[in-house]
Amino acid sequence: MTDLTKEFAEQSETLKREILEKVSAYGELQRQHSQPGDFDLIRSTFEAEELSAAVDVLLGGQVTMAGKVKAFEQAWSHWNHSPASIMVNSGSSANLVAMAALASRLSPHPIQAGDEVLVPAICWSTSVFPIVQMGAIPVLVDIDPLTLNMSLEAMEQAITPKTRGIVVIHVLGNPCPMREIMALAQKHHLVVLEDCCEAHGATVGGIKVGNFGDLSSFSFFLSHHLTTIEGGMVSMQNPERWQDYLISQRAHGWIRGRSDEAEWQSRFPGLNGGWIFVETGYNLRPTEMHAAIGLCQLRRLDAWIKRRKQIFSYWRDNITSRWGEQLQLQQTLPDHEASPFGLSIVVQAESSLDPITLQTYLKSKGIFTRPLIAGNFARQPVWESLNGRCVAADGSDQLTMADFAHTRGFMIGLHQDLSDPAVEFFIQQLAAGIQASQ
Ligand SMILES: Cc1ncc(COP(=O)(O)O)c(C=O)c1O
Repeated sequence: MTDLTKEFAEQSETLKREILEKVSAYGELQRQHSQPGDFDLIRSTFEAEELSAAVDVLLGGQVTMAGKVKAFEQAWSHWNHSPASIMVNSGSSANLVAMAALASRLSPHPIQAGDEVLVPAICWSTSVFPIVQMGAIPVLVDIDPLTLNMSLEAMEQAITPKTRGIVVIHVLGNPCPMREIMALAQKHHLVVLEDCCEAHGATVGGIKVGNFGDLSSFSFFLSHHLTTIEGGMVSMQNPERWQDYLISQRAHGWIRGRSDEAEWQSRFPGLNGGWIFVETGYNLRPTEMHAAIGLCQLRRLDAWIKRRKQIFSYWRDNITSRWGEQLQLQQTLPDHEASPFGLSIVVQAESSLDPITLQTYLKSKGIFTRPLIAGNFARQPVWESLNGRCVAADGSDQLTMADFAHTRGFMIGLHQDLSDPAVEFFIQQLAAGIQASQ
């Protein structure tokens, strides 16, 4: 090393240390003086640790997908007790690559053009679109009004010889009866994508969601239990079957990072080993910065989920005891444990309360309400162009339960950073709103 390069290296190190110290001090100051933007779900929750980790990546040189993404995948798999996971740039991308895998030759029951795939009527858009993007037909299945999850009876009614798969969604963190759903899938030779984008850490019989379906997806968008700003994960039970395929799908269809990378290189010595393409694929890669943030967040995830459960129980007990006859809250099945993403409220048919007036009142007090995910998806303008069909528990195409939840229900954001006064403020405002909406 020349004297000049030595001096440059020393100066860089000193500056970097100073920058990280400042970033950390800034993060700490923000934390001490933060005003929980109470019911706003798109506010940053980053502390000094995440800010420093992100800036450290930016200053370090290696910013595109590398070791930190791998480390986060491994840490996530460990946390979720999943055999393996692949990180992508959103929960929507996780659904897309998972669906592509379930439609591929590797799938035990490949979803082909014209096949049908069940999905709950109360769902998110990008839980439905990958079905259509594979050339398959989405079948909206009515919900159970108590859990707000897909109704088992309606699923049974919806299955035909054309059915090839199920997209299960654990709505607002409330876990679906996965043992019954998997038994149904096995009986009818269906593949299952478990969309856990709202349910990190929810359990069924003590087993974390994301460990029942063939593949599962998680979202790390800002409002979710753990956030990397944008980000997502596919977890899998059978890495031998899926992992290499998903790695190619995530990045250009090439071989980089696959377990059989060297084999491909020796089979095609005439090709440059870094540019061998073996599958159709996308580019849905996360960056090192996103993974670095995720690694920090994962260390605090258990504590956050505990706090979310605490807030949810407090609200549930209060609301049920005071307004249980008017307001229906989401019910969790015995031996299932929710990991709350939000609080759903459905105004009962017998109640004289007007749900719109109630929401307008809450909004006027800074408590934002939103639909139950995207509401009844059959009501969305895009649905008409998807050539799907709808099935209810009575076998008809009338999504009565989903429609009721759509028109009479809404969701309040629930966040680990809500302070005790904010939690209480919500109950006070709900009481005042109920009075104003009679
Ligand atoms: C059930 C469900 N699936 C998928 C997604 C998509 O996740 P992302 O926003 O990370 O793309 C969401 C988003 O909130 C969701 O709620």
